[in-house]
Order: sequence, then structure tokens, then C-alpha cells
Amino acid sequence: MKRVVEVQLGVRSYPVTIAPGLLDDPAAIKATVTGRHALIVSNEVVAPLALERVRQALATHGLASVVLPDGEVQKSLASTDRLLTALAKMGASRDATLIALGGGVIGDLAGFAAALWMRGVPFVQIPTTLLAMVDSSVGGKTAVNLTQGKNLVGAFHQPRAVLIDPNLLATLPKRELRAGFAEVVKYGAIGDHAFFSWLEHHAEALLMLKSDSTVEAIERSVRHKAGVVARDEREDGERALLNFGHTFGHAIETLGEYHGLNHGEAVAVGMVLAAELSARIGMASSADLNRLNDLLVRLGLPTRIPPAYAAEKLLDAMRLDKKALSGQIRLILWRGIGHAEIVASVPEAKILETLRAGGAV
Ligand code: NAD
Ligand code: GLY
Repeated sequence: MKRVVEVQLGVRSYPVTIAPGLLDDPAAIKATVTGRHALIVSNEVVAPLALERVRQALATHGLASVVLPDGEVQKSLASTDRLLTALAKMGASRDATLIALGGGVIGDLAGFAAALWMRGVPFVQIPTTLLAMVDSSVGGKTAVNLTQGKNLVGAFHQPRAVLIDPNLLATLPKRELRAGFAEVVKYGAIGDHAFFSWLEHHAEALLMLKSDSTVEAIERSVRHKAGVVARDEREDGERALLNFGHTFGHAIETLGEYHGLNHGEAVAVGMVLAAELSARIGMASSADLNRLNDLLVRLGLPTRIPPAYAAEKLLDAMRLDKKALSGQIRLILWRGIGHAEIVASVPEAKILETLRAGGAV
């Protein structure tokens, strides 16, 4: 059951291969690495599950690995320094390949180090969370955080290949799995009504990680993202639609000081708020809002703002979000399932009403 999606970017095109058991195929891993040196980047949670298989597959290369502690805090300049130093110590040159073996944290970090080493060397994404499989491993956004904010330092640097083994999801904590489903639902919500309906029919199978359904959901998500990235690599236009629910979501994450809802949960709430606002300003029907809400609930995701979050503070955080251009809050709203749009200036009073209707005080 192997599926391959090509991200079409001319000479920088690359395949995303999705196959249960892919990590047990050394030849498939080896084929992605051409140079003499390979640096595998992973973390303390993922390494015991998968590092040895990748090491064995690349045994003929000059090989090193860096296993970092777990957590978003590792997406830092200090960790970048650690990876670059490891490359220097192994005597790597421009023929080095970095291999990101982990979730979005490891992928964003290793990709960023690959963009920097000798002005850019290849890297391979082996995503191990659902979010990384359907979103962060595809599209070439790499970044680390500063204390002043998330993803403030980064580069567009496309991977050479993405290897997705859905069997890795068996060990993923259920909360992380559900968070990944928020991004899967997003693809249906913003541009693919048929996929949204398919998700409605397969929600329970997906939660049980039924293999056929899981592969299908990952493939359709990756295919959607690959198409958007091919048409708008640098987010000059259409790629911004992938931020549906994210401006609301980031505000909720910020107010929770990143200890409340996780990213996928906050995006789930954010998508419902975006749909609610769309209905409130007459862009979309409440019927579609209800379908979105119901699907997210069935996938175990929250759809309301946690108690005691102040609407005014959420609005302040939304103004600071990078999607707020020239003082106006720019939002991704929708006309209904499958039809998202960028709306350049949304009346703040309507946003406040939406936040209060969504549970803020
Ligand atoms: P993560 O990388 O922190 O992984 C979540 C948790 O799952 C971690 O504790 C991790 O160690 C653990 N884990 C990973 N794989 C596992 C497995 N197979 N079994 C058991 N545990 C496993 O988080 P994430 O949700 O994958 O990624 C979030 C990051 O991705 C954020 O930093 C975000 O900014 C970034 N992101 C980037 C993009 C992009 O386009 N580059 C898009 C979305 C998100
Ligand atoms: N995750 C949004 C993007 O890649 O553009």
C-alpha cells in the first residue's frame, strides 16, 4: 500500500512516500541520501523507537546522530549550534545530508540547520507525528524560536525527500494524534468538500488508526499541501489559506502560555471561530459551521475557547499575529466547506462578538 505524492518545484521537486512499514525498508531510506556524510537528528522519545533502523540503513555512510531532549524548547538557536557543530566535528562538507527523525520540532530544527550548513545542504524528513506527516514535513518551512516568539528565525528550504511510515503513529500519545487530525480536517475545510465528507464517514476508523483509512487521510492531506506549495511556495497568496483557524488558534495558545490547548486543539477551536465569524458576517451558512464543529468533536477535539479567556486579550494577541498586516486583522474565513478565502479587513466588533460566542468572557 505505497503511495507517492510529488511536490512539483522544478529542479527542487521531491517525492513524499507514504507506506506502512517504510522504515523497515533500508533500501528506501538509503536511496534518499547521496553524499558521503549523514547526520540523523532525533529526540529522546523517538530515538528508541526508530533511530536504529535508520542508522542500519545508512551504515555505509559517514554517520553521526544527535539525540536531543524532547520539547518545543529545543527549536532554538542553541540546538542549531549543536547540529552545526556535530557536522563540523564529523568532517562534513557540502555532501552532507541531514535526516530529521521526529515530529515538527525536529523537522523544523534539522531543516533549518540544513539550510545553514555550507549555505544549504539536502535534508530528508522522516516525520513521526501525524501533524508532521500531513503538514510540517512538506513545504520547506524551517525555523527556530526566540524567547520573543515562535518561528522568528527561519528559512525556506525544501527537503530532498519525505518518508512517511504511518506505523510510527501506533506509539503516538492519543492527544497528539487528535491534534494532527485538526490539520487533516483543515484541508477538507479550506479546499476539498469531497475529502471533508470522506472524513465524516471515516472519523471512527481514523481514531482507531485503521491502516487503509490512515494512509488515505495522510495521502489526501499531503496531496493538498503539495499542490498549494507548488503554486505558492513563498506564501505570496494561496498558501496563506493553510492558516485557516490559525490566527484565532495562535491567540488561544498565547493566552494559555503554551500550557493550555496544544497547537492542533487551538487550531480546531480557531477553525470553528473562523466559520462562526464567516456566518456572522453573512459569508457562510450555519449549517456548514455545525458540520465542522461536529466532525472535530467526533475526532476528540475541543471547539470552544477554554473558560475565563478574555475576549479583549485574545483580540490583542490576534493583532500581534504575523497575519495582521498594516494594522488590519487579516483572517482566513470561508464561504462554506471547501471554500476558504483571505479577508483583508474584518471589523473588530464582529471578531469580539465571535470570541464571546465561542466561550471567551
Ligand atoms: P513535536 O515534534 O513536539 O511532537 C509531539 C510529541 O510527540 C513530542 O513529545 C514527541 O517527542 C512525541 N513523538 C513524536 N513522534 C512520536 C512517536 N512516533 N511516538 C511517540 N511519541 C512521539 O510536535 P509536532 O506536533 O509534531 O510539531 C509541532 C511543531 O511543528 C511546532 O514547533 C510547530 O511550529 C511546527 N510546525 C511547522 C510547520 C511547518 O510548515 N514547518 C507546520 C506546522 C507546525
Ligand atoms: N503550515 C502552514 C504552511 O506550511 O504554510
